[in-house]
Amino acid sequence: MGVKVVETCLRDGHQSLFATRMTTPEVLLALEELDKVGYHAIEIWGGATFDSCLRFLHEDPWERLRQAKKICKNTKLQMLFRGQNILGYRHYADDVVEKFVEKSLKNGIDIIRIFDALNDIRNLEAAVKATKKYGGECQIALSYTTSPVHTVEYYVELAKRVESLGADSLCIKDMAGVLLPKDAYELISALKKNTKLPIELHSHCTGGLCEMTYLKAIEAGVDIVDCALSPLSGGTSQPCTESLNFALQGTEYDPHLNVDMLNAAASKMQSVRAKYLANGLLNPKVLSVNANIIKYQVPGGMLSNLINQLKAQGAEQRLDEVLSEVPLVRKDMGYPPLVTPLSQMVGTQAVLNVISGERYKIVPKEINEYLHGRYGASPAPVNEEIRKKIIGDDPVITYRPADDLKPEFAELKKQYKGIAKSDEDVLSIALFGDVAIKYINERNEEDAVTTIRVEA
Ligand code: CO
Repeated sequence: MGVKVVETCLRDGHQSLFATRMTTPEVLLALEELDKVGYHAIEIWGGATFDSCLRFLHEDPWERLRQAKKICKNTKLQMLFRGQNILGYRHYADDVVEKFVEKSLKNGIDIIRIFDALNDIRNLEAAVKATKKYGGECQIALSYTTSPVHTVEYYVELAKRVESLGADSLCIKDMAGVLLPKDAYELISALKKNTKLPIELHSHCTGGLCEMTYLKAIEAGVDIVDCALSPLSGGTSQPCTESLNFALQGTEYDPHLNVDMLNAAASKMQSVRAKYLANGLLNPKVLSVNANIIKYQVPGGMLSNLINQLKAQGAEQRLDEVLSEVPLVRKDMGYPPLVTPLSQMVGTQAVLNVISGERYKIVPKEINEYLHGRYGASPAPVNEEIRKKIIGDDPVITYRPADDLKPEFAELKKQYKGIAKSDEDVLSIALFGDVAIKYINERNEEDAVTTIRVEA
């Protein structure tokens, strides 16, 4: 049995390279060919794809999924699910999580990859339970980061809990692309020894390490790797699917992908790449290697955000100070992995600490909430002195943050019964509020016009 491959070009590929702007016709363009490649799964849906459909593309994300399912008959469709945040940016009540899982599976998703930025397992429970209840395949992803607490033992311990929670597989999600080849070998070997779950590795080429890291992970027995078709691979995206297939041909790890179908799909997707290069959304900068992300241990997106924030304040020359402040803030916060939303929170705090001239003189609302425990448990204890300075003697919650949330779905359904044509519409509104309402209103008006025309 060779290594299995998950194709990411229709989700992470365009999310990493050009702000998730691929339209539904572009997503469907080569799907028939991709469906015949022999992938383990095709990743097609996630927070940014859903958001981008409603916000920028004037498209119904649910409709994209249904159309993809019609074409994709042999290969499982996969989505990325941000635990209790679902695809949004706050914690939602359990009934919304359950309804979203139910509808995702009903509309065409087969595998749900569930993760939490802090690796707080309690934030995964509702989504995992719902996935099992509605017959979906449940993968739990652990956010990968480096810190004194993020040891191999830490991940092995979490993997055991993931297994007992009932997950069907485990993914190591290295969103920043900082996993080194030798560390991957050690980590995957330990995970294989300590759990029966199939192990998948997800990383990014940003730092120029990813192909080497994948190869060492494969030698350590990783079961599945995430790759992107050539036109959407490399740079801040995943390693190239075709190249990995060639690299492993004739070895015990041979993925046995259909080369003709890969070529056919790639030549179609070249036109998509060319379009976004021409219109500037795909900036050639993101296609080159940025070894600084390994030096500073920050994701590529976060590095460019920091530079932009400093530019806006006319303080570009203080980048080095900010980059030295980031690990200190991260330590104060108990070493959260730098993934959405923590990457933005830690980055903004580091900028404020440097610019204001006094650490934690100005504190964003999100950091304040985090210190109250409202995002979940930090990987290591936070700096109590800093916490006291910021929130005083306020109580800190130690239970699952969503336990405070009352059921929301029935109320929303009632509130929007004039607009929402389906439970799917209600869910879009639950997650993206005004952005979804605006889209649904426009769509309903267009539908009304079409109906009148047909009747006439
Ligand atoms: Co990714």
